[in-house]
Amino acid sequence: MKLKVPDYLSLIKPYVPGKLIEAVQREYGVDHTIKLASNENPLGPSPMAVEAIRQALDELHRYPDARGYKLTLAIAEQYHIDPVSIVLGNGSDDIIALLASVLLRPADEVILPQPSFLFYEIALRSMGARPVWVPLKSFNTDLAGMIEKISPKTRMIFLNVPHNPAGTIISKSDFEDFIAQIPSQIVTVLDEAYIEFVKEPDCANSFEFLHSDKAIVGMRTFSKAFGLAGLRVGYGAMPPVLAELLHRVRQPFNVNVLAQVAAKAALKDSKFLEKTLQLVHTELEFIYTALDSLEVPYIRSEANFFMVEVGGGGQTADDIFKKLLPLGVIVRPMTSYGYPQHIRVSIGKHEENIRFIEALEQAI
Ligand SMILES: Cc1ncc(COP(=O)(O)O)c(C=O)c1O
Repeated sequence: MKLKVPDYLSLIKPYVPGKLIEAVQREYGVDHTIKLASNENPLGPSPMAVEAIRQALDELHRYPDARGYKLTLAIAEQYHIDPVSIVLGNGSDDIIALLASVLLRPADEVILPQPSFLFYEIALRSMGARPVWVPLKSFNTDLAGMIEKISPKTRMIFLNVPHNPAGTIISKSDFEDFIAQIPSQIVTVLDEAYIEFVKEPDCANSFEFLHSDKAIVGMRTFSKAFGLAGLRVGYGAMPPVLAELLHRVRQPFNVNVLAQVAAKAALKDSKFLEKTLQLVHTELEFIYTALDSLEVPYIRSEANFFMVEVGGGGQTADDIFKKLLPLGVIVRPMTSYGYPQHIRVSIGKHEENIRFIEALEQAI
């Protein structure tokens, strides 16, 4: 069949998600497989979110509130932002795609760190736009390098704080200096999918810049710290004129009934958030110490994942990934992100992290 579709779609490489636990159990016959590959919350979903879902089950015959009024107000109140700036999405992936669809046309340019979360490239290429990559410098976002790449064709810039997969952040003053140099017609997206995990107080935060005269979008998600990845709910906070454009083109009911009530409840579940952060911070230190004693290099992270340099001695990250699978441990090789010597590992529960360390020792 010969379909009349834009040529630029052939440039898109489909997103490869983390391997599923069921798949490893099926292929290798290992029970008790652990998945440390998708930066999910190891404690499960927020209990308050689960209770809110239970109570909403009888409403499933109704369409959701198309504008997600209650959730939007809850977010606005929690973070002191204007509700008209907020657009809810079916995960923050939805916001990425919506931004691309209203801002980009074929041959436009989007500047982004290399590597980046893979869906940015898919979203921009699906509009025919061109990625302009700026490699990380010592695993940090090269802001000066990004400024140098601005051209009359630049429409968007993606930043990611903490950066996935490096786990590094951008300081407040570096972000301020950067944004001061960005022409106001270029939209700068600060993807803050993991910002709740950041311990360092000197970290850029999009919400502090929403009233500036620059076009800044902050993107957040309920998938990580709030434990609701399976429900699909995230949001963007942006200048109201841009929010209004996203509302025009989005699916009318892009956030389902259960996601709306669960996200609203999770926002108030401070006990669960605290427990999550406590676990991630304690376990990161535990794993660093274990890796130090194995003399395996890693990159210190401000997120709920970190990169480990496992390559060398004739083995690549893909080899290590494959060796860990029969041991019932799923991690993410960083080959498709341009780091063939590194794996990315999400923080699990203590016993899962012990299993990872033991399996890694065996594999290397
Ligand atoms: C950097 C980054 N941004 C955005 C997302 C998308 O999150 P979601 O669509 O689940 O909100 C992810 C998911 O892994 C991510 O790592």
